[in-house]
Amino acid sequence: MCGIFAYVNFNVNKERRYILEVLFNGLRRLEYRGYDSAGISIDSTSDSDSNGCPPPLVFRQEGNIESLVQSVYQEVAATNLNLEESFSTHAGIAHTRWATHGEPAPRNSHPQTSDPGNEFLVAHNGVITNYTVLKETLVRHGFTFESETDTEVIPKLAKFIFDNMNEEGEKIMQFSQVVLEVMRHLEGAYALIFKSRHFPNELIACKRGSPLLLGVKELNEEANIGTSFNDAKFLSSNRQPKELFLSSDASALVEHSKKVLVIEDGEIVHLKDGGASIFKFDDAKGKRHGALTRPPSVQRALSVLEMEVEQINKGNYEHYMQKEIHEQPESLTTTMRGRLIRGGSCKSKSVLLGGLKDHLKTIRRSRRIIFIGCGTSYNAALAARPILEELSGIPVTMEIASDLLDRQGPIYREDTVVFVSQSGETADTLQALDYALENGALCVGITNTVGSAIARKTHCGIHINAGCEIGVASTKAYTSQIVVMAMLALAIGDDTISSQARREAIIDGLFDLPSKVKEVLKLNKEMKDLAQLLIAEQSLLVFGRGYNYATALEGALKVKEVALMHSEGILAGEMKHGPLALVDETLPIVVVATRDACFSKQQSVIQQLHARKGRLIVMCTKGDAASVSVGGSCRIIEVPQVEDCLQPVINIVPLQLLAYHLTVLRGYNVDQPRNLAKSVTTQ
Ligand code: F6R
Repeated sequence: MCGIFAYVNFNVNKERRYILEVLFNGLRRLEYRGYDSAGISIDSTSDSDSNGCPPPLVFRQEGNIESLVQSVYQEVAATNLNLEESFSTHAGIAHTRWATHGEPAPRNSHPQTSDPGNEFLVAHNGVITNYTVLKETLVRHGFTFESETDTEVIPKLAKFIFDNMNEEGEKIMQFSQVVLEVMRHLEGAYALIFKSRHFPNELIACKRGSPLLLGVKELNEEANIGTSFNDAKFLSSNRQPKELFLSSDASALVEHSKKVLVIEDGEIVHLKDGGASIFKFDDAKGKRHGALTRPPSVQRALSVLEMEVEQINKGNYEHYMQKEIHEQPESLTTTMRGRLIRGGSCKSKSVLLGGLKDHLKTIRRSRRIIFIGCGTSYNAALAARPILEELSGIPVTMEIASDLLDRQGPIYREDTVVFVSQSGETADTLQALDYALENGALCVGITNTVGSAIARKTHCGIHINAGCEIGVASTKAYTSQIVVMAMLALAIGDDTISSQARREAIIDGLFDLPSKVKEVLKLNKEMKDLAQLLIAEQSLLVFGRGYNYATALEGALKVKEVALMHSEGILAGEMKHGPLALVDETLPIVVVATRDACFSKQQSVIQQLHARKGRLIVMCTKGDAASVSVGGSCRIIEVPQVEDCLQPVINIVPLQLLAYHLTVLRGYNVDQPRNLAKSVTTQ
């Protein structure tokens, strides 16, 4: 949800064209975080460290990144800006926006500015909750606002502080102090990058609540990976040519460098004089001392990204969603790699989850397990709930993160709370995590993003290792989440002899799962034909129950979010309590009726829908067509059978394919559905 990016070249000549392209590419990688509008700021001349300090240039454009690219090159041509002009040091910033405050329009795009002279510029991801108060104060001091954004208060506040703290003609306040003072006044969630006309060739980034990474590319020497480095040591290599990058996530960094630093909440990163200094803003002390007290610098270690550039390219596919659906056999294999054990001394088959090993006993003693997530992640937890209840014997409850927060539902010390989030950054889930931590519960994270806020804040957890998911609609992360939670159930139930045979059958099922997913992917053509049939429909219902209630919700969510077709997932047991009224001969209804303990109940649901002339599409286990098709009147989707608790992994695949093809056939943007963005970092 909004992407911010910056590129600084220190002591290495780069032409303006190159700098622009690095910024544009960074934005292209982050575009899935928001695509309502975009903007960049670069320097107007390579003499930007001369006394005159010419104002930085700002370009902002409504629409996606390509609209920005076109408009920048048009403006460059119209103003005869030299694309070949070379900069030995240059600091550029960029932003792609998912609109929260104010419609998508150039004036509401970032970088937001302090004044027409661009004294301070800011790219922001997050939401400033106290912006109205700050805005009123700034207006009283003569500032005029041109946007409806919450962000505009930030550069204006920086200018106000800078103007008031500095004596005429003398800069007593350094850039970092201005930013510290700004941070003292901000409430809400943010990752910010500041650029200033007063501090050419410098950038400052800071964060609280929203993700931010620093990427380091040293051109003549190896950075000290894995060893702690402090600002002094890092700055001491300031004559070394290097390129530094700031980004909301790793996907924009990996093509430049795998050496990264995950910026922590409250940290300020100052890129200056060929290096990076990091300070920690302490809320309590910061408020007491004010910005002129420089906080201590922080010792941090660089880490290495486990991501390959190929993972973030589309390869031979037309869309990311398509690629991610089709790579599920591989992503599931990676999720399970090294975690399933067949053979061994005392037990023949078991599960090894390294991230949980010190906490399993506590989890087994919990009074309750609570799953918390949003959207698809919530649905994945719902799919795993029955097997967790069965194997653990512990009551398992479900919470949508925002609803838990709205109700301030009770959480106790004796609870284990499992946070499920692909991105690991979803604001509602993160806030629910803070709430659970305050209430003393054991917090377990299940995320796809190593180093994400949820991964770092939880006591323990499991990475789903599904690989980078770029399509806004989650697909491969969903199936990997279910598998991880099935493994969690196996690990918790591992001390119960009576369920050993069941656990072993599930482990065998897990081993076979990737090949079964490969098999179900062969339905691609069939699902395309079905999509063709449904192309003009207004609405679609999906009925499921038991393990596949989640399939109904998730299938309907996919169709709704990408194909922009109204679609509703319905618990089949609730059919007679209202939804049946919708049924007629026109409305298409998918019924998930694969073999499990609920099969006969689903057969009777099909009969009842048929009796009301329902237009049925039935998903059944291979070979069951005759038992479900009520006299050949239904369209059938036959899927391979797996262990009941793993069946949701198989059953969602045809519905993912249906949603994908419906979207393409209806002419909508598959990877960037209207009004949505990945990583919902605002509440
Ligand atoms: C739908 C989808 C969303 C996310 C939800 C939570 O396809 O992707 O519903 O699942 O926004 O996101 P994470 O899992 O990152 O917490």
